[in-house]
Amino acid sequence: MTTTSDRIRELKTFDETKSGVKGLVDAGITKIPPFFIQPHEQGELVSLPVEIPVIDLSGANSDAALREQLVEKVKNASQTFGFFQVVNHGIPLEVLDEMLEGVKLFNEEEVEVKKKYYTRDYSSKKVIYNSNFDLYQSPAANWRDTLLITMAPEPPIPEELPAVCRDITFKYTEYIKRLGIILFELLSEALGLKPSYLTEIECNKGLNVLTHYYPPCPEPHLTVGTTKHSDPDFLTVLLQDSIGGLQVLYQNHWIDVPPVHGALVINVGDLLQLISNDKLKSVEHRVLANNIGPRVSVACFFTTHLNTNCNRLYGPIKELITEVSPPLYKETTVKDFILYYRSKGLDGRSSLDYFRL
Ligand code: OGA
Ligand code: NI
Repeated sequence: MTTTSDRIRELKTFDETKSGVKGLVDAGITKIPPFFIQPHEQGELVSLPVEIPVIDLSGANSDAALREQLVEKVKNASQTFGFFQVVNHGIPLEVLDEMLEGVKLFNEEEVEVKKKYYTRDYSSKKVIYNSNFDLYQSPAANWRDTLLITMAPEPPIPEELPAVCRDITFKYTEYIKRLGIILFELLSEALGLKPSYLTEIECNKGLNVLTHYYPPCPEPHLTVGTTKHSDPDFLTVLLQDSIGGLQVLYQNHWIDVPPVHGALVINVGDLLQLISNDKLKSVEHRVLANNIGPRVSVACFFTTHLNTNCNRLYGPIKELITEVSPPLYKETTVKDFILYYRSKGLDGRSSLDYFRL
């Protein structure tokens, strides 16, 4: 039997290699270390043949009638699934592919190069490479390594980024910021607010780019790439490669978010659910481990992070409060929300419950 102190020692030994899950795979392991083994409820639910909507954004700049239809689609998807995919979003295919390639190149660098970025110092660093942000908090580790880059409000100086993905990260995030404005306008309208509402309250002030690398796993049925969770931000724009494995919880069933080359996956985060007073849904999702990868993804989180001082309070938007729809959450700063999320780690429970009135 593994005792708690054995487990902590094993986590530390793994962490101190600074070479992540990729390092284990490169060492040729055929059995996964016990601290990666997930508690049993993961993966028990059968998949449902329901499809996450794919929305064509080219209607955003057309006439009023088309725009209204588009807002309606965004609203329905954000209320029922909390997820949708978008095409004709304005980001060239080569830029998407080059971004994924940059993440792959970084993770496939020599360990000595990657180690320089390995840290758990979230309060002062803007470029953070590690495996499992919640390694010491969560019940089980995930089969995933991550490079996190805070690109807004203040980006790092270019030299702080790894050379192999430096230029493309700056280029990609310029496109993402522009797409963010369009999406927040549509979401504002979906809530019955003026188009600039959500950007005026600075939902897109911060942008954190989480690049994930999911190495092939020798025992994929025993662990997961990412534990079931919802995102601690206002909105996420996710770019995934062609491997697949992302699933969303819908009516207590897991449904696949199939890779569509050129599309981006959009999902409502916890903070948008909170300020929309549950009108928009932050839905739980997970990533299965695979044995055919590596799988690469880039999740752009619209939110400030712990390295940004921002004392703005967020609570349910006043315009959405009525006698029949009283406020459901207390106010919080983004920082307090993220500190709570991180203190808990990915444990399968929603952070929103803690802020619910
Ligand atoms: C996340 C996330 C999904 C993926 O970063 O929060 O859910 O496909 N990522 O990597
Ligand atoms: Ni997520």
